[in-house]
Amino acid sequence: MNDDRLRVAIILGSTRDGRFGPAVSGWIGAHVRRREDMTADLVDLVETPLPTVFPVLGEPPASREDADLLAAVSPRLAAADAFVIVTPEYNHSFPAPLKNAIDWHGTEWRAKPVGFVSYGGFSAGLRAVEQLRLVLAELHAVTIRDGVGFQGAWSQFAPDGSALDPAADAAATVMLDRLAWWAHALRKARADRPYAA
Ligand SMILES: Cc1cc2nc3c(=O)[nH]c(=O)nc-3n(C[C@H](O)[C@H](O)[C@H](O)COP(=O)(O)O)c2cc1C
Repeated sequence: MNDDRLRVAIILGSTRDGRFGPAVSGWIGAHVRRREDMTADLVDLVETPLPTVFPVLGEPPASREDADLLAAVSPRLAAADAFVIVTPEYNHSFPAPLKNAIDWHGTEWRAKPVGFVSYGGFSAGLRAVEQLRLVLAELHAVTIRDGVGFQGAWSQFAPDGSALDPAADAAATVMLDRLAWWAHALRKARADRPYAA
């Protein structure tokens, strides 16, 4: 086993009842798991919900319950070398629970790369992705130019979870290759010289 493998946290941003998101996160998760240079950790915000009320700035979570909810997510983001955010588009943007998960964290994002897999109607979720780039820049994360977007996602997958259009698999490979390049470069850079923000 290669100890040098990159730890990739796949964050599923949709929490809606009846959501389509797991089909998309399952597909990209399979791509990550097939690679020898990566391990995958799926952070599903339904399984690990986060509080929606923030504590006073600079203070710890207000309750033990809130602290426990955070403890199920934060260490996994901290341990990640790279992220893949799986997001649908809601009203030309990203879902609120995803923004909440981003806002709960700071150092966990710093000097780490983020790739995107988006889905939606006509726009393939691309408006959500472009807005996430602005948010993540504030957190000193590096977003990957190349991504995957599923237009009309509900008709893009076979019953076995594979994508019907081979172009989607090719796009995933490009995105993950670029993610790996940045993840290796930034992991080494962070080790050589701690990132000061
Ligand atoms: C509140 C809401 C707003 C939406 N707004 C958009 C939109 O602006 N653009 C778009 O392409 N699709 C939009 N959709 C369609 C979603 O992208 C599509 O239903 C997708 O499956 C949602 O992801 P989910 O099933 O994982 O929740 C919207 C869906 C919801 C529930």
